[in-house]
Amino acid sequence: MARLLVTGGAGFIGSNFVHHVIENTDHHVTVLDKLTYAGNRASLAGLPEDRLTFVHGDIGDAALVDGLFAEADAVVHYAAESHNDNSLHDPRPFLDTNIIGTYTLLEAARRHGTRLHHISTDEVYGDLELDDPARFTETTPYNPSSPYSSTKAGSDLLVRAWVRSFGVQATISNCSNNYGPYQHVEKFIPRQITNVIRGIRPKLYGAGHNVRDWIHADDHSSAVLTILERGEIGETYLIGADGEKDNTSVVELILTLMGQPADAYDHVTDRAGHDLRYAIDSTRLRTELGWRPRFGDFESGLADTIEWYRTNETWWAPAKDATEAFYASKGQ
Ligand code: NAD
Ligand code: TYD
Repeated sequence: MARLLVTGGAGFIGSNFVHHVIENTDHHVTVLDKLTYAGNRASLAGLPEDRLTFVHGDIGDAALVDGLFAEADAVVHYAAESHNDNSLHDPRPFLDTNIIGTYTLLEAARRHGTRLHHISTDEVYGDLELDDPARFTETTPYNPSSPYSSTKAGSDLLVRAWVRSFGVQATISNCSNNYGPYQHVEKFIPRQITNVIRGIRPKLYGAGHNVRDWIHADDHSSAVLTILERGEIGETYLIGADGEKDNTSVVELILTLMGQPADAYDHVTDRAGHDLRYAIDSTRLRTELGWRPRFGDFESGLADTIEWYRTNETWWAPAKDATEAFYASKGQ
């Protein structure tokens, strides 16, 4: 049994990881989360109290972080400002949390010699052309486009530097776009599902040709646990499940699965600097660490996710109106 500290464990992917760890291991989990607009304690409801401790706080609070690292066998770092559209509107919190917050954790890891796994995104690599057969690998050069992805890239580089300069025991993973339960309604898939539930037409940015490589959040969690257990210190692993889809196809599939005409959506103002395509080659994770995704079929994973939003309206409804008002103010 190990004591895991999970930062950002009340967010989308962090809460899915906490559920996964509690269901599949006997580890104890302490969540450190600031409960920003994106954090929700209800995402951890029903988990056994003797397996989970919740600490409300900021990863930039060095004294708090130091005390929590002193009691942890390993730390998995999910906490971040995570939404590109917000980063275009107000970049500052992205610098504070993604850069200074990660620095604060690295300094604690250095003092205590704690094993740290840093969660990152494939967006640090920039984008690929739509007709390019290439996919991102662990050696693709960093080329981030947005305030969000540049601060995630900065945090990855800090981790690499702290490994090399100070011997911090860290690994990094860069994952593709996640879908599944507990994702905030600001993000593409839950926004469109909850729009359809509310009788609002889904909103597609620009022409809708942009491609994302979708992975179920539970597959991301199993990959992170695999890296935590068997990953090589100082190394980076790309996580993906061969789920490339263009945005139009995703919206059409959501509409069809929800019993609506496939063309009942609107095109809205495109995102500034909108990355065209992301695609992950996860060969290293599969061959070196033996990981495999469980949700091979995007359509059935999406159907499960639609069902989750249908039956959990009390979880997402409080954030829906403010989110749509924000988008409406941007013509989106
Ligand atoms: P999210 O926005 O749903 O959750 C972020 C969580 O971090 C929230 O609970 C929030 O309260 C917490 N948080 C924010 N600032 C904090 C601070 N200063 N101190 C403590 N807690 C703080 O994000 P997500 O989509 O779950 O993403 C989690 C991680 O995974 C991020 O590091 C993100 O870059 C990465 N990632 C996300 C995706 C994706 O598709 N969403 C893909 C790859 C990687
Ligand atoms: P998003 O979920 O914000 O993730 P990311 O920007 O990290 O890829 O968006 C996924 C894709 O969907 C991206 O190409 C932008 C697009 N998108 C829309 O077309 N409409 C929307 O309402 C949103 C939120 C996103």
